[in-house]
Amino acid sequence: MATFAIPRISRRALYALSGATALVSGTYVYSHYGKRPQGNGPNGGKMMAAAAIANTPFHAEKVSHVEGDYQKIYNAIAEAIRDNDEYDDYIGWGPVLVRYAWHSSGTYAQASSGCPHATGGSFGGTIRWPKELGDGANNGLQNAEWFMKKIHDKFDWISWGDLVTLGGVTAIQEMGGPKIGWRAGRKELSADNAMTSRLPDASKDADYVRHLFARMGFEDREVVSLIGAHALGSCHVYAPLLPGQKKPIPGSGYTNRWTASPNYFTNEFFKLLVDDKSWHWKEWDGPKQWENKDGLMMLPTDMALVQDPKYKKIVEMYAKDQDLFFKDFAKDFQKLLELGIEYPKETKTFYFKTLDEQNI
Ligand code: HEM
Repeated sequence: MATFAIPRISRRALYALSGATALVSGTYVYSHYGKRPQGNGPNGGKMMAAAAIANTPFHAEKVSHVEGDYQKIYNAIAEAIRDNDEYDDYIGWGPVLVRYAWHSSGTYAQASSGCPHATGGSFGGTIRWPKELGDGANNGLQNAEWFMKKIHDKFDWISWGDLVTLGGVTAIQEMGGPKIGWRAGRKELSADNAMTSRLPDASKDADYVRHLFARMGFEDREVVSLIGAHALGSCHVYAPLLPGQKKPIPGSGYTNRWTASPNYFTNEFFKLLVDDKSWHWKEWDGPKQWENKDGLMMLPTDMALVQDPKYKKIVEMYAKDQDLFFKDFAKDFQKLLELGIEYPKETKTFYFKTLDEQNI
């Protein structure tokens, strides 16, 4: 596909220009991700074309439900996490729900000269489509979908994109993390919008990580704060078995936890990267990963955060100051969950109460 440079031009003029281009170029928009009918976008037809060069092509709807309705869903997710704490050797469901929210959002690609309209992200809830969930990078997230389907059965009015992202916010807060602002209004997109091959490969180095997150519009400090979520959860050769499941499904192939408190949100991941002197390559016939004297783990992309001097400064900052990490993470995680989405002006940001705060 031909590349073009965008001259300095007002946003309004740019929209008009792209609308006109769409009119002469027929019913399809082309990109290096393939041919897609224009009407497939959230707004279809002309609006989709008009937003084609913007980084926020997905227009959230004005929702009729109020904060209390979403707090009910928050509570249902939080209670299901609390009441099923035996999952994954008593780590519980929190971490996999955080990963599910991140993987639904991390498919986002900004507009670029190669692809003049942004694509992907959490908006359309496309992670539920078999094509996207079946992407190798999503191995194990079938369990998160199983969990969330039961919530959706009770609250079928919520869009899948809203539900998946609300699950991530709930899990972070219930595991002792910061309050995350959250906005409603994502809409279902068809299976044609499913994205694959866009999530990071853990075997790579700092340059790769920097480039991959730049595609989503993140800078170094945001990248480091987001990967701090690896304080939570564990890697799996096989995903934990669900009730009644006989045959395990594959996980990422990596193994073990990053920290000693995998269901409590802390800056421990950064402390281990800075302070632990016992990191060495794990001797096993699985993929290359780091191990310390206590059997905790780091992925190659995690260790890249202290191998790269710019990333390392940020890691050291967060290792010293958990409050700063929490403050940054809250902002960056909300940004991640809203990539590509434009909200109506009047949309409220909700901050949900934890079960503890409600004495539930
Ligand atoms: C370079 C970027 C990243 C890479 C290569 C990466 C890779 C991985 C891998 C390989 C796993 C293990 C999955 C399994 O075997 O179950 C994992 C788990 C996890 N990741 Fe990441 N990740 C990255 C960034 C992030 C970000 C930005 C977040 C959230 C903001 C995140 C949150 C998590 C969580 C919470 C888990 C634990 C899931 C569980 O316990 O089931 N990761 N990640």
